[in-house]
Amino acid sequence: MQKKVLLAGGSGLIGQQIKHELQSKGYRACLLTRGKSRPDQGVYQWDPAEKEIDPEALAGCYGVINLAGANMVRWPWTAARKRLLVDSRVQSTAFLIDRILAEKQFPEVYINGSASGYYPDRDEEWLHEKIAPGEDFLGRTCALWEGAVTNRQPLPFRTCIVRTGLVASTRGGIYPLITLSMHVKIAGYLGRGQMYYPWIHIEDMGRLMVFLLENKTSNGVYNGAAPNPLPMKLWIKSLADYKKSWFTLRIPAWLVRSVTGSFSQILLKGARLSADKIMREGFTFNWPDWPEAIQDLESRKI
Ligand SMILES: NC(=O)c1ccc[n+]([C@@H]2O[C@H](COP(=O)([O-])OP(=O)(O)OC[C@H]3O[C@@H](n4cnc5c(N)ncnc54)[C@H](OP(=O)(O)O)[C@@H]3O)[C@@H](O)[C@H]2O)c1
Repeated sequence: MQKKVLLAGGSGLIGQQIKHELQSKGYRACLLTRGKSRPDQGVYQWDPAEKEIDPEALAGCYGVINLAGANMVRWPWTAARKRLLVDSRVQSTAFLIDRILAEKQFPEVYINGSASGYYPDRDEEWLHEKIAPGEDFLGRTCALWEGAVTNRQPLPFRTCIVRTGLVASTRGGIYPLITLSMHVKIAGYLGRGQMYYPWIHIEDMGRLMVFLLENKTSNGVYNGAAPNPLPMKLWIKSLADYKKSWFTLRIPAWLVRSVTGSFSQILLKGARLSADKIMREGFTFNWPDWPEAIQDLESRKI
């Protein structure tokens, strides 16, 4: 019988890639969405803000992967938007765990999203999973999001949390925005461009999640980023070379801050994420290096 895996917030960029990866390995990938319920197609409805969920959604799950949360890359970050960014992650995670614990039979494994924004900006320092969170909005949000899982431990199933970096895909997320100006042959980097960008190829992201689902000894927090992050200036240079941009602009950090306010954290904050833990446990990245990843993403338009 096919193993059922429920993807909360699985209709988005990462969820759809995980769904594809799961299906290619013979799993039954189901979605938990605020959209319409289609149980015959494995799509179940929930409304985490109202604490409602289709009672069939969690039945017989082998695994649950929770990615739900309002989009971070939407500007401006008003006070109401920031509240939504936090609540849509923390409250929905707490509610999902409550409902799993209320089931007669638990899943074998639960995986929760988090982000590289968890970390403080420590310039060149490699960031391992044991480091304490940053004090800024992103750091506090990720700490609360993870806390909705870790505060409940010990949970009666294997639990992993993935601190994902910038997921590179031509189909969505921040990559199409960053490469937009390159269509008119202009590249741009921010500040001095020295902040490390913890990126990951979309297919490696899906593979990493399924690796954690299957690897029975994996437990706890993992960085979800390729082993060779680059300072933004070099990261942009590789893209500009590939896209044959004519010139590269430097956009001062003060300008980014004054135009975008606290949203600038998402653009200016660096994090040199270490991939040591996941690699020690046996995961291999198909795209550890950025120039090869760009070549692959652009040639296959994935
Ligand atoms: N993409 C990246 O580069 C990246 C990097 C680091 C971390 N992450 C995190 O990883 C998770 C998945 O990323 P993604 O790129 O796949 O995001 P996404 O495309 O924005 O998908 C997130 C999903 O969350 C659900 N959602 C949206 N607003 C919600 C709300 N108010 N309450 C509950 N659920 C809501 C939506 O599903 P329904 O509309 O179907 O309910 C949506 O499809 C996100 O939490 C994101 O912050 C992403």
